[in-house]
Amino acid sequence: MKMSKILHPTTENIKLAAKALQAGKLVGLPTETVYGLAADATNHQAIEQIFLAKNRPINHPLIVHIADLNQLSNWAIDIADIAISLFDAFWPGPLTVILKKHAKVSSLITGGQSTVAIRMPAHPVILSVLKTGTLAVAAPSANRHCHVSPTTAQHVSEELGNQVGMILDGGACTVGIESTILNLTSQIPEILRPGIISQQQIESVLGFKIQSNHSSTSPRVSGSLNKHYAPSKPVKLVSAHEFSHYKQAGMMAFSERSYKNPTSWITMSTDPKEYARDLYSALRLLDHSEAEIILIEMPPDTADWSAIWDRLKRAATK
Ligand code: TXA
Ligand code: MG
Repeated sequence: MKMSKILHPTTENIKLAAKALQAGKLVGLPTETVYGLAADATNHQAIEQIFLAKNRPINHPLIVHIADLNQLSNWAIDIADIAISLFDAFWPGPLTVILKKHAKVSSLITGGQSTVAIRMPAHPVILSVLKTGTLAVAAPSANRHCHVSPTTAQHVSEELGNQVGMILDGGACTVGIESTILNLTSQIPEILRPGIISQQQIESVLGFKIQSNHSSTSPRVSGSLNKHYAPSKPVKLVSAHEFSHYKQAGMMAFSERSYKNPTSWITMSTDPKEYARDLYSALRLLDHSEAEIILIEMPPDTADWSAIWDRLKRAATK
């Protein structure tokens, strides 16, 4: 069994990681959102390994990560002025844009589509690796398909320990949930995946209204969502007063422990940014506890919780 190595991001290890990527190997790298499983985005065979390692369906497209705006023209064409104004405002940072792809982009990255997803992450470790190796990497979240995304190097090792030779430890991710994905190839830009960068923030940079094709914040319309970001234990979204009905349960609540019954209790922040940062570690902790079911107290039904609602509903989808 191949054991993965969690390495400190020293100058030497950053060079090692860049070399490993250039040699077609997979490397676990920190970003500000979640850890990524990276491969040289120009290396078809290396990208193939990502799908095998994650057990990811081959038609699920990947995000290309760049460190410098000069790299953009290698990956995308027809870059509009509104895209540039978004990069000025949010890059490096947790915003992914969908653009028309450059002819040379591997069909494994695009899932055979004519578009490509690109972002410039805001974590010094991945940025140094990319700059050191003059690289762009294709990198999905470094978890097995449909599992909870990793927000520490240890989580990556738990998820894909046998599949990846090297993980650079960049500490716990500060954003904690995946980037906002904005499609710029539709007539009106549309949010495909909500994240910490909100619709309202994007609209205020663009100066006009955009669309959002993810469901509203309402918990009552969760039926059509795909299961994703899911612990192995069942997850249920409940109101605090329902906690008392359960015994062998792990709770994610906004208040301090108020019932003796539950097996585990995690008090979450009432600030959505802090909640997002801690969400996936909390789900992992409860998944590893003795609890038979994970109960999550529903957050407020407001726009600043919409990215969290999206993740919670997917985690709770059977
Ligand atoms: O924060 C993030 O975005 C993290 C870190 C590692 O950067 N990455 C991440 O990658 O979440 P992944 O593979 O777990 O999710 C990528 C998402 C998928 O939902 C995929 O469908 C979408 O990006 N995507 C990629 N290319 C696309 C395209 N051309 N059109 C539409 N969606 C695309
Ligand atoms: Mg993912």
